[in-house]
Amino acid sequence: MANLTGQQLGNYRLIRLLGQGGFAEVYLGEHTRLGMQAAIKVLRTYLRDEDTAVFQQEARTIAQLRHPSIIRVLDFDIQNGTPFLVLDYASNGSLRQKHPRGTRVSLEHTIGYVNQIADALHYAHMQKLIHRDVKPENILVGQQGEILLSDFGIASIAHATSSMSTQASMGTLAYMAPEQLQGKPRKESDQYALGITVYQWLCGVLPFQGSSTEIIAQHLTATPPSLREKIPDISPEVEQIIMRALAKDPKERFESVQAFAHTLRKTAQREEVSTVHIHENSVLGSTSEARKTAGQQGSVASSAPGSPEKVRPIHWVIALLLAFVLIAVSMYMLLPSP
Ligand SMILES: Nc1ncnc2c1ncn2[C@@H]1O[C@H](COP(=O)(O)OP(=O)(O)OP(=O)(O)O)[C@@H](O)[C@H]1O
Ligand SMILES: [Mg+2]
Repeated sequence: MANLTGQQLGNYRLIRLLGQGGFAEVYLGEHTRLGMQAAIKVLRTYLRDEDTAVFQQEARTIAQLRHPSIIRVLDFDIQNGTPFLVLDYASNGSLRQKHPRGTRVSLEHTIGYVNQIADALHYAHMQKLIHRDVKPENILVGQQGEILLSDFGIASIAHATSSMSTQASMGTLAYMAPEQLQGKPRKESDQYALGITVYQWLCGVLPFQGSSTEIIAQHLTATPPSLREKIPDISPEVEQIIMRALAKDPKERFESVQAFAHTLRKTAQREEVSTVHIHENSVLGSTSEARKTAGQQGSVASSAPGSPEKVRPIHWVIALLLAFVLIAVSMYMLLPSP
């Protein structure tokens, strides 16, 4: 599609191209009268009349989502057959840009992201909406560094418009759950995609790679390669949690995406606490050892001159007897001789 920079779509002038994906170009737009900025997502398709109603219905549903971690749909329209959406502009780009392919994200940061995304997904799932395309490119970063999930259900909008290519309308293969690949997406499919995202953040690579056919086959039948072989500092429990989110059977995953996030957070916290305890114990252990040793040294030192020695009771008795003898002797000496 030709670059539309400088042109006007609806009330927005397109300032510059922000990026492009499987089925759209995204521009930074500026409202011609109000001057406010927005992201304008121009779908790379010509919408036939019969598709218009479907597109509008899907866009309306998505526009109803109101959550602090979800990019809002502010408007949608069709201009000369080209459908476009007006979205909140996330000025700090996507998590894909922040963490390029091949780089690792710490478990702590990963958990921070997962919590916010799971919250947003759970909210949508409660309203019977499935994202269908969870991946780092669709997780954006707002002005305050907040995490914003974008393209909610856009894959289904694309699907609604029959002129889209099949793959573009399906979502992104590398993150796609087996049941979604088989045309039956459900809310657990988003948990699976988040699981793949977490796997990729932690070790820097996707679990399933190769040609489209190979990726599909692996999603359907292959066990994801061990995470701990790539990053040994991840505990078997944490690995197990991620593998559960990646179960082939959606019923074997966590009952909700929030349960996945919660279990991951709690397990990591527990491990951190026990690590701190082990550390503290070893520090305390060595301190009490040191005290013991110091005590032993103290008792040895007690015999040394000048040490703050404890006076034992037997010493008092001897001292008293000596004093008594001294007094008796001096009294005897002072007595007048007969
Ligand atoms: N609301 C937004 N604010 C700021 N940048 C955005 C916004 N939406 C998208 N972008 C940028 O534009 C790029 C292209 O977005 P687009 O959604 O078309 O493709 P994608 O997310 O890479 O893949 P897919 O087509 O599967 O969604 C994104 O990677 C992101 O960098
Ligand atoms: Mg996107």
